[in-house]
Amino acid sequence: MKTRIIGTGSCLPETVVTNDDLSKIMDTSDEWISSRTGIRARHLVKEETTSSMSIEAAKRAMENAGVTADEIDLIILGTVSPDYVTPACACEVQAAIGAKNAVAFDINAACSGFMFALNITNAYIQAGLYRTALILGAETLSKIIDWKDRGTCVLFGDGAGAAVVRGDEKYGMLSFDQGSDGVKGDVLACLNRTNNNPLVETDPMLSYVHMDGQEVYKFAVTTVPASLQKTIEAAGLTAEDIDYFALHQANIRIIQSVSKRLHISEEKFPISLDHCGNISAASVPILLDEMNRKGLLQPGMKIAMSGFGGGLTWASAVLEW
Ligand code: ACO
Repeated sequence: MKTRIIGTGSCLPETVVTNDDLSKIMDTSDEWISSRTGIRARHLVKEETTSSMSIEAAKRAMENAGVTADEIDLIILGTVSPDYVTPACACEVQAAIGAKNAVAFDINAACSGFMFALNITNAYIQAGLYRTALILGAETLSKIIDWKDRGTCVLFGDGAGAAVVRGDEKYGMLSFDQGSDGVKGDVLACLNRTNNNPLVETDPMLSYVHMDGQEVYKFAVTTVPASLQKTIEAAGLTAEDIDYFALHQANIRIIQSVSKRLHISEEKFPISLDHCGNISAASVPILLDEMNRKGLLQPGMKIAMSGFGGGLTWASAVLEW
């Protein structure tokens, strides 16, 4: 039995904010942002929430897969920006779509969240515990970003992506790789509120995403090609056999570097970061959904996917579409 993606969906907030729009409210420019990152615009929430975008993405994925809510027995959602500490965003989705037979929970693996959800689902399916899963990556990063820090706020966006996954006899996941390096966690961090219980004398404060961009870049351009190579070999394939590489959309330079290191044309690396920015756990499923709806993905095609980010964490998978 293989773990196969049978449908995709996504939801972006209605409001688009271009680099030029940002340059009107902070000291930046389209030239600086696009030449260093490839990002030209991002969607930011006004009314939307992590849950509302997740619910919409889930409904679109279920419609695309032709699956009803009753058939879903597992919902895993990757996020670092849920609406609530509890209930989990996955439980909000479960309630809204009426998936009464499902077990639902969130995971935090930052930008690798969707890939971790896929690999966990694969383990459940291989173990015979569940058959049909809804997996999501969803973020409202605009609420955890310091809008006074032009070095980070221009990079991120909001949105949600979803996929319906099912055990399949013919096509599906061939291999995966997952890893974490907690020692380097501080290069990409967002601390929680400080504790102000009666025993602790600190001022309550909110913290925002803090990033050492150059360290993240070094981590990404070494770890991602190595993880992809390992996963492709484990599938009994070579990089040339892969039809598309669907990577976490952090930065065009990282994607170009991975393509160079694998000696594979950039044409095989579809992009959504130009109009979405970096949406952490949501970026891989949103990209997949865009590829799917453009008709790029045909049954049996070999797709390599990779997520990487805070933790530090990374995860790759090779699957037949
Ligand atoms: N507009 C204009 N100038 C800016 C901006 C901005 N938005 N942000 C920073 N600058 C200025 C800085 O103040 C600095 O000026 P100075 O030289 O006068 O001091 C200069 O630009 C260079 O700043 P750096 O922070 O050193 O910028 P760098 O060249 O490293 O580029 C970037 C930043 C694009 C983030 C880069 O480090 C990078 O590509 N990192 C890869 C990691 C990444 O993309 N992370 C995304 C999220 S993480 C993830 O998803 C895994």
